[in-house]
Amino acid sequence: MASLQLQAVAAVLALVAGAGAAHGFEFHEATVEAIQLGFSNGTLTSTALVRFYLDQIGRLNPLLRAVIEVNPDALRQAQHADAERRRGSGTATGSLLRGVPVLLKDNIATRDALNTTAGSLALLGSVVKRDAGVAARLRRAGAVVLGKASMSEWANFRPVEAGWSARGGQARNPYVLSSTPCGSSAGSGVAVAAKMAAVTLGTETDGSILCPSSFNSVVGIKPTLGLTSRAGVVPITPLQDTVGPMCRTVSDAVHVLDAIVGHDAQDAAATGAASKYIPHGGYTQFLNKNGLKGKRIGVPNGFFQGYDQTQLNTYKQHLATMRKLGAVVIEKLDVAANLTALLVEIYSKEGIAMQAEFKLSINAYLADLVYSPVHSLADIIAFNNKHPVEERLKDFGQPDLIAAQSTNGIGPVERAAIRRLKELNANGLEKLMMEHQLDAIVAPNSDISSLLAISGHPGIVVPAGYDEKGFPFGICFGGLQGYEPRLIEMAYSFEQATKVRRPPMFKP
Ligand SMILES: *[C@@H]1O[C@H](CO)[C@@H](O)[C@H](O)[C@H]1NC(C)=O
Ligand SMILES: *[C@@H]1O[C@H](CO)[C@@H](O)[C@H](O)[C@H]1NC(C)=O
Ligand SMILES: *[C@@H]1O[C@H](CO)[C@@H](O)[C@H](O)[C@H]1NC(C)=O
Repeated sequence: MASLQLQAVAAVLALVAGAGAAHGFEFHEATVEAIQLGFSNGTLTSTALVRFYLDQIGRLNPLLRAVIEVNPDALRQAQHADAERRRGSGTATGSLLRGVPVLLKDNIATRDALNTTAGSLALLGSVVKRDAGVAARLRRAGAVVLGKASMSEWANFRPVEAGWSARGGQARNPYVLSSTPCGSSAGSGVAVAAKMAAVTLGTETDGSILCPSSFNSVVGIKPTLGLTSRAGVVPITPLQDTVGPMCRTVSDAVHVLDAIVGHDAQDAAATGAASKYIPHGGYTQFLNKNGLKGKRIGVPNGFFQGYDQTQLNTYKQHLATMRKLGAVVIEKLDVAANLTALLVEIYSKEGIAMQAEFKLSINAYLADLVYSPVHSLADIIAFNNKHPVEERLKDFGQPDLIAAQSTNGIGPVERAAIRRLKELNANGLEKLMMEHQLDAIVAPNSDISSLLAISGHPGIVVPAGYDEKGFPFGICFGGLQGYEPRLIEMAYSFEQATKVRRPPMFKP
């Protein structure tokens, strides 16, 4: 879209930004806790909330393209939640998500009227056997499935522009319309930033929650591998895939995390192994304003650079704030003797493992469908070749899909790469954190995503500031497997002390 048009649209949006605030309940920016309060004090119904978000989607989605499908059943689900509440039977599970509209990334399967396509035309019309594990948990918690969020198509495996897919088009950043919303969970980040949903789910293989959360000024939690089930999620690699919340506040993200973690027989090995990390009583107990006190936070060399000076100064202030709140911040740490060399080797070994794992796991996903227009990775490649215009093959080709197709299972090369990644983690991030007894390392945006990805470590991104154009940036707290409780404490304490997040401005 031409920039003049963007300016005109931005002006219109600025005018309507104040609308929808009527009727006693403040819909804009409403948190999960405020929503539940509104339900219980009678100023809000789930139906009214769904109507508000459907209205927001109707108004904003032509511009932002964050929502790929709206659930035709959402209002009925909301009415059901309202009826349950009136009967006093709606609090059976005590879940704070009861009646709360949730948007799911388009690679998270739902067995309902919604399609699950990972942004791809090739999967349109496919029918899944059952809800994804995380979707089933949200339904049991009483959440309303509002729809599916757009995503970069097939994530890393169609390396087209961030936020673009053949089905969804180009998602836009609601802060600066001409800037990237990042990917692959672009729609989830954009939608929750622009209040087109109460909360959203994204998925990450390497950066896909942390980056779009940073660029859309929301909180993203990338959980420990296996803490959340990957069953029914269109896969990239079981070695790295994870599902997590993308929300406007840390506490919202933690309420969603509480609802989606846990064992799933359909992803038994990973969820079984990670179950030991789930704390008794859930994660909300770690929403502690003093959560930075006594924490040891490492600042690895090589990440706080390459940003403009105002941004670096902002990060410096944030480190000072952490110290003021009682954290021990240890600067100038080295993850490796040569960080560039480490990251280069990680990308290369990660790529080798990912290509083979992708072929195996996407073929397994497709084989498990009740109906699908495509049955294998080879079919997807052929489909794209038959639809070169829609799939923008001339611009981007499909080299990664073709490379994945040429692999032949997990052989000696892949096994060596996977072994090497374990070593790089053990001698890198894990060693650093153990040696200095760190509770977290911090870095800008998603810059440490690969260090976390290769060993299933968790990370939380929190809004950290806006550059001179108004484009958001975040700060990431990364830890070792199972460190969610302390990461939540630090992220929450930081958020409450800094309160950086502002609603989007829709600047051109
Ligand atoms: C009901 O709860 C909402 C918070 O969700 C609050 O803004 C509102 O003032 C409350 N109204 C009454 C009448 O208690
Ligand atoms: C799912 O895709 C089909 C096309 O195959 C379309 O007709 C239908 O409207 C889609 N469902 C929703 C909820 O958008
Ligand atoms: C670090 O590694 C990179 C990439 O392998 C290399 O280009 C660079 O020269 C190395 N730097 C030092 C100081 O050894």
